[in-house]
Amino acid sequence: MTEKDFVPSAYHNLKEEGVVGFKSPSNIALVKYWGKKENQIPANPSISFTLDACATKTILTYSKLEKRATDFSFDLIFEGKPKPSFTPKITTFFSRIVTYVPFLLDYHFVIETSNSFPHSSGIASSASGMSALALCLMEIEKELNPEMSDTQFIQKASFLSRLGSGSACRSIQGDIVQWGNHTDTDRSSDLYGIKYPYEVHKLFRNYHDTILLVDKGEKQVSSTVGHDLMHDHPFARQRFAQAHENLTKLKSVFKEGDLKEFIKIVESEALTLHAMMMTSHPYFILMKPNTLEIINKIWAFRERSGTHVCFTLDAGANVHVLYPENEKEEVYQFIKNELVVYCQNQQYICDRIGFGAKRINVGLDN
Ligand code: PMV
Repeated sequence: MTEKDFVPSAYHNLKEEGVVGFKSPSNIALVKYWGKKENQIPANPSISFTLDACATKTILTYSKLEKRATDFSFDLIFEGKPKPSFTPKITTFFSRIVTYVPFLLDYHFVIETSNSFPHSSGIASSASGMSALALCLMEIEKELNPEMSDTQFIQKASFLSRLGSGSACRSIQGDIVQWGNHTDTDRSSDLYGIKYPYEVHKLFRNYHDTILLVDKGEKQVSSTVGHDLMHDHPFARQRFAQAHENLTKLKSVFKEGDLKEFIKIVESEALTLHAMMMTSHPYFILMKPNTLEIINKIWAFRERSGTHVCFTLDAGANVHVLYPENEKEEVYQFIKNELVVYCQNQQYICDRIGFGAKRINVGLDN
């Protein structure tokens, strides 16, 4: 597939108006995407667990303009209130995707969106938010082109999401999604995420991710700036090569259910991501003292309990605590006893591996 394959043929019979809706989850990367080329092409391949509880719901109402416009026309309502600060992000997204969904200039849109997780929890809503909006647009495209197959729908939804926020392309499906060209992964693509195509051991079913909200403030450095700093980064070449190697290693880890090796890869990826930040020019640190306290507690507990709890980090201070279903009681008790104290206002979110976005039955279920 190339970009051109996502340009639709001319539409006929644009509908006058309608309403569509999607709920789309967030995801947590195991092998991290950090660094990109032009047009949101990743500098290295990545893989993630799709989450379940952390999600965005978006309802998109569209009404045909009298005449095709030259600018995008939309209103954005976030959690019941107009949110003008989101306008530039949506405008950039629309201008990146208008070649692929040309009807964007034929309609006025009302985008109503809300997150399941608390606002300013430090949890990025770009993956769930951009993928929910991309899916709504695909639903409109499907009304115009009903012959579109489910595979085409999912692939293009992921392709469009990527143009909104890279990691968003991994939120369409579950439960493990890979994105980015990787020689050892058939059908992998820089343009969209694919459902992980190889065998996965049952130990990874229902994997838990308890997200510890260490710092709910606005990040000092956005991921856009962080990605950019990977250009001319002294360790970029080695880092990108390492991501390819880690993905190859994960193949047997997933197949065999090798949790020890899984932990090594996942924790090293998290720390490498932050090491890249700390060795950029300019350098920056997104971890907080409590992030490190939690990591040390996890290591000590894992050593004495023999469980397989591990951590990963996003581009922020929050800690994602990962553990298998069969250890959930013991690990959850440990989290409550020893880790919650390091969370801002003792806040955390219990999430787990999920199965991707779902259509909202508009009118009935929103
Ligand atoms: O999708 P973006 O541009 O916000 O980048 C996300 C980058 C990380 O969350 C740090 C890693 C990843 O692969 O999700």
